[in-house]
Amino acid sequence: TYVVTEDCIKCKYTDCVEVCPVDCFYEGENMLVINPSECIDCGVCEPECPAEAILPDTEDGLEKWLELNTTYSAQWPNITSQKSPPDDADEHKGEKDKFQKYFS
Ligand code: SF4
Ligand code: F3S
Repeated sequence: TYVVTEDCIKCKYTDCVEVCPVDCFYEGENMLVINPSECIDCGVCEPECPAEAILPDTEDGLEKWLELNTTYSAQWPNITSQKSPPDDADEHKGEKDKFQKYFS
């Protein structure tokens, strides 16, 4: 599966949503997540994210993000079309420690 990671927080560009063939993105206040049991591993979303927030869970150190994607995709609403990012999205692009600062 692919997972959405910290770089999505406060950016939410949603380009990923537009290309996913199985509509497996779910939307929270500050970030999106992927439902790992619905993701078919096609990989098309990864290069679409301007914040480079989407990664295959085969990369090292992503256990926390796999768990978070699994948990919140079961709670948050499905998002199936692109929307405008927050006004300050670009200011938060690449920022460090966004999980600690903003995740709720
Ligand atoms: Fe959707 Fe493919 Fe990305 Fe999985 S890898 S979330 S199926 S676009
Ligand atoms: Fe987030 Fe990137 Fe999608 S910033 S909403 S994972 S395009």
